[in-house]
Amino acid sequence: MATSVGTLGINGPGDPVDWAALTKYATEVMGRAYAPYSGYKVGVAGLVDDGRVVLGCNVENAAYGVALCAECGMVSALHSTGGGRLVAVACVDSRGAALMPCGRCRQLLWENGGPELQLMTPSGVKTMNDVLPDAFDASDLAEGRSGTSDPVAE
Ligand code: THU
Repeated sequence: MATSVGTLGINGPGDPVDWAALTKYATEVMGRAYAPYSGYKVGVAGLVDDGRVVLGCNVENAAYGVALCAECGMVSALHSTGGGRLVAVACVDSRGAALMPCGRCRQLLWENGGPELQLMTPSGVKTMNDVLPDAFDASDLAEGRSGTSDPVAE
């Protein structure tokens, strides 16, 4: 299945998000998750600022610790299908119900959507700023680095 499945027809910033359509995409791709160890299938759909929709599902491994969260696949799909910024994300469990992305994945979403990215949660639509306040990001690197980013030169 393609990881960029077409567009949701957004026209510009501030347009209302079609959460029903985004959740439907997320639920469909959840059905392709590979989660034989946890039995917890996850699907995620992200609306990109050019109207594309990118998808991901979780992919587990016999070495439990290397499981890939659904959001990892979606972020890879974002870049591999042309990049851009995420503007809205719906992440669902096996029932098709919204789930809160784990801490690591909130960091991934922040990097690729920023503080205004909208997220469907079990308690309604929230922004990334709501669910990852005071996030670490590229601005912290710019301010706090010691002078060189070349470890060989240090
Ligand atoms: N999982 C995700 O795919 N995304 C999240 O944000 C939370 C957890 C997956 C990882 C693992 O395959 C399963 O859910 C149980 O933790």
